[in-house]
Amino acid sequence: MKRKNVIIILGIILLISLSIGLLFLIKHINYTKTYDYRLLKIGYKKDDVKIIKKKLKNKQIDIILNKKYNKKIPALLEEKYFIFNNLDNYLSYIKNNKDKTTTDIVAIINVNADKEFYKDTKKTDESKEELMLLNKYNYLDENYNPNDLKEFSNKYAYGEHQKLKEVAYNAYISMFNKAKEDGYTLIVNSSYRSYKEQKEIYDKYVSWYGEDADKTAAKPGFSEHQTGLAVDIQSYCSQKKDFDKCEEFTWLQNNAYKYGFILRYPEGKEYITGYDYESWHYRYVGKDVAKYIQENKITFDEYYAYFVK
Ligand code: DAL
Ligand code: ZN
Repeated sequence: MKRKNVIIILGIILLISLSIGLLFLIKHINYTKTYDYRLLKIGYKKDDVKIIKKKLKNKQIDIILNKKYNKKIPALLEEKYFIFNNLDNYLSYIKNNKDKTTTDIVAIINVNADKEFYKDTKKTDESKEELMLLNKYNYLDENYNPNDLKEFSNKYAYGEHQKLKEVAYNAYISMFNKAKEDGYTLIVNSSYRSYKEQKEIYDKYVSWYGEDADKTAAKPGFSEHQTGLAVDIQSYCSQKKDFDKCEEFTWLQNNAYKYGFILRYPEGKEYITGYDYESWHYRYVGKDVAKYIQENKITFDEYYAYFVK
């Protein structure tokens, strides 16, 4: 072979090698721009990256990339009720509450239960109607009155002047009738309460229990009873024992949601609702929401934070 041909062949080989090298370099540079590379580089594992990419939008991943690696982030993202805007609050709460599960952390932060009761309060959004939220952070004005209250006859209630908002009243009557058909008598023990009536109750509880009153009675303005959507239910049986030991309670556990009512302050959820367990207090939220809450075993506070707010 002539020397010239050898030089040409060597030249071609060199050119091909350079091109291949360049291609790899470009590919690598492009890879370093991907979320996979950047997330792996700050410490996330392959599985974490999958979760982050699946659960978050690009803008949100950019925010994660601007934070230091945090092994709690993928676990939080896996939580059903994770709200991205609450991320910083979840992370700072975790620091001082390492024993709590991520499920609890998400629930507590979503409903503000990390904050002191009655401190950072705001007027509730009345436009949410039957889904309006009343708790230790959301209140109604003193002069708020439901405009369509309907009064129960004494066939349904202890005492006189027991009223609910029309939608809740009608649902309650249907529920009462079905319970009766099944052999149970539900009795309305307390229902709509004006701001003034709630104040009387609250003051009475304070005189009896001092600070502990807050575990069972809402401050005036903060009670669901003022919405006309909450009802305390008793039975003949509960004259002798706790309502939750009565068959009427079991019936409500299995059926109340079908009429749009939920047990508002369940046992074991005191740290979310802010109230002791109340087996008698039911809140009308409508059939669909009640069904969701029943099936998913969450409180109305959690439902509201994730789906309504
Ligand atoms: N017992 C409930 C919390 C109320 O006072 O509204
Ligand atoms: Zn009640």
